[in-house]
Amino acid sequence: MFGEPPAGPALRPLATAAGLNFGVATNADVVRTDAAYRETLLVYANTIVAENDLKFGPLSPRLGHYDFRRADALMAFAADHGLKVRGHVLVWHHQLPDWLKAADYTPEQARELMRAHIFTVMGRYRGQIFQWDVVNEAITNAPRTPLRQSFWLDTIGPEYIALAFRYAHEADPNAKLFYNDYGAEELNRKSDAVYKLVRDLKQQGVPINGVGLQCHFDVAAPPNLEAVAANLQRLADLGLELAVTEFDARLHLPASAADLEKQAALEHDLLALVLRQPACRTFMVWGLTDARSWVPGFYRGYGDALPFDAMLAPKPALYGLQRALRQAPPVSGSGSARPMR
Ligand code: XIL
Repeated sequence: MFGEPPAGPALRPLATAAGLNFGVATNADVVRTDAAYRETLLVYANTIVAENDLKFGPLSPRLGHYDFRRADALMAFAADHGLKVRGHVLVWHHQLPDWLKAADYTPEQARELMRAHIFTVMGRYRGQIFQWDVVNEAITNAPRTPLRQSFWLDTIGPEYIALAFRYAHEADPNAKLFYNDYGAEELNRKSDAVYKLVRDLKQQGVPINGVGLQCHFDVAAPPNLEAVAANLQRLADLGLELAVTEFDARLHLPASAADLEKQAALEHDLLALVLRQPACRTFMVWGLTDARSWVPGFYRGYGDALPFDAMLAPKPALYGLQRALRQAPPVSGSGSARPMR
């Protein structure tokens, strides 16, 4: 378009000027081994989240033992390049250590184990991670059994959620503590259950600061964005912060040019919506390039869900994000262009 410089992957300065924590899920191994990937990430994002390197299973292969090599490397990469880090994830039903699932625990033992895990991981990076997903995916879609079966629910009981937030607040009092889930972006039974959960937690004085909306979307069945905006607003009205935590927009393969345009429109529209919601200052995409996305492994027949293609070339989706950032309302307040904490 007239007056606009040619589109490139350098979204980082636009995001920073818009006051947005904007970034990608990544892994220490790819950052270490793939220079082209690294360079693209650094001009594109001002924030990263560990796709797997901070999860309990990957961190703790043996009872009583933590291997922080990957997580430390990722933190060092972020520090070296002025990237903010979002923490993912402390308490979840997936990617737990095998040793944990192999044994029986009393409720007290399980509570102590959860506390020790939270303190060990958050404590190590205290002050370096601005937002943490404390509890992930605790809610099901089934109306009669709102809480998902998990190691934590089964051993500790429903109070594991409040406990996790209390422990996390003790471990790093300055980190913003989030409840994160998927399928709860629009107005539906699940987002109602999330709303009720976080409202009750707040009413009980539990130290929860925000809600993460994962936003794993299928371009052929796109979300109703008005409903997403309304859901964000009702959560913001509780005094909570919001974050888009794991956005991707999968396509049925092979994707056509029209599919890629639809994807670009969704990327633009979701980011534009976020930029209009002052309580939501974080927008994370679940990966950088289609070469490394989790989508093909988890959704049969789908892929091409990310803004860069497998050769790291920008896709229309990237231009959609770029257009939204260029149209972002100016950051209000101090005139500072730094992303909010
Ligand atoms: C996924 C990772 O992308 C995969 O590499 C891993 O094998 C499984 O987990 N919701 C979440 C993320 O909260 O942690 C998941 O990440 C994707 C769904």
